[in-house]
Amino acid sequence: MNDLAGKHIVLGLTGGIACYKSAELCRALVKEGATVQVVMTAASEQFITPVTMQALSNRPVYCSQWDPREPNNMPHINLSRQSDAILIAPCSADFMARLVHGAADELLSLMCLARPIATVPLLIAPAMNREMWAHPATQRNMAQLAADGATLLGVGSGEQACGETGDGRMLEPEQILEDVVAFFQPKVLAGRKVVVTAGPTFEALDPIRGITNHSSGKMGFAIARAAHEAGAEVSVVAGPVSLPTPRGVRRIDVRSAREMLAATEAEVAQADVFVATAAVADWRPATESGQKIKKEGGSPPPTVSFTENPDILATVARSARAQAGALFCVGFAAESHDLAANAKAKRERKGVPLLVGNIGPSTFGQDDNQLLLVDAQGAVELPRASKLVLARQLVAEIARRRAQA
Ligand code: CTP
Repeated sequence: MNDLAGKHIVLGLTGGIACYKSAELCRALVKEGATVQVVMTAASEQFITPVTMQALSNRPVYCSQWDPREPNNMPHINLSRQSDAILIAPCSADFMARLVHGAADELLSLMCLARPIATVPLLIAPAMNREMWAHPATQRNMAQLAADGATLLGVGSGEQACGETGDGRMLEPEQILEDVVAFFQPKVLAGRKVVVTAGPTFEALDPIRGITNHSSGKMGFAIARAAHEAGAEVSVVAGPVSLPTPRGVRRIDVRSAREMLAATEAEVAQADVFVATAAVADWRPATESGQKIKKEGGSPPPTVSFTENPDILATVARSARAQAGALFCVGFAAESHDLAANAKAKRERKGVPLLVGNIGPSTFGQDDNQLLLVDAQGAVELPRASKLVLARQLVAEIARRRAQA
């Protein structure tokens, strides 16, 4: 993916052991298509060298406001004017305090102060010992920085270099990358709540065995990520899938269709958008044995009879809030043939304003897909692309339709 193509990012390093992760972060930003200009404080040079950062960013690193390489000798002006964002990672407790006070006695803080505040956002990935993190002074500084318009990316939790355990570790490079990519996405669902069902369900026969399907959950998780990137508060109700939860998304793990229905109904009570991507089992075994069904010597194989599962999408679409237009419901249809006709019929049967068709078996587990959006006006095709790219397009389509509703 090239989610940061065309973006120029100033990556600022301040003093902290997490500087070792900044090398990986720099690489990840470049790999995602960004150009990266590294600026380092003197304290950060105690932890990693400008040579490493120059090699990874493919640009000379700036460490001093007196750098004679700039014709006007004003790197604080030139570097900030050229950038789409300044990302401080790691940002030490000391550097936060300095930002709060508008300190300007070395290049990085000077550049942050001199940046055009309306057009060059400041993103901060703090890193420090847990006591320093929890200290009222740090928390006060964080609140002030947020009030001054900076975006605080949060911290990780766990073992720290000092041997203590708690909050304050710098986020991992891939988490920071995900946050930076999200930051640049248009906020078309800001303030909205979105609920997504994803993955298969598992319908138990006995404590060991059950019936499930090949859905990987990738499309649903991509939609959850895209909705979060668009500024929504997102919950994903997930059947058994082995996917990492997208940053900032609340995940509720369930197993059966009935569990998925109960979790979904609780989540959609306050939601604005519901997207049903889960491949819910249409039927479950009529009885679930409490004990493992044994292959007794010579006895005939057991017969399984089925009973119908609740239809989660249809149930939610019939709810009072959906009927009143407060909850916009989107269904998916995985078809093996006649996609357009089947998707149109399914949209009417489920009673939803928008139904997204795809060819089922060939997309399961894949990283890309191709979608057909069917609404009352007709059908629009979203050509083959990665599931995340399609998810972002779908989120934009949902936001547009909600705005018109
Ligand atoms: N769906 C659901 N609950 C079910 C079955 C389906 O919420 N018990 C949702 C899916 O998440 C999807 C849509 O309904 O958004 C269509 O699912 P699909 O399995 O294609 O539709 P079915 O109604 O099962 O139709 P059929 O199997 O006949 O194609």
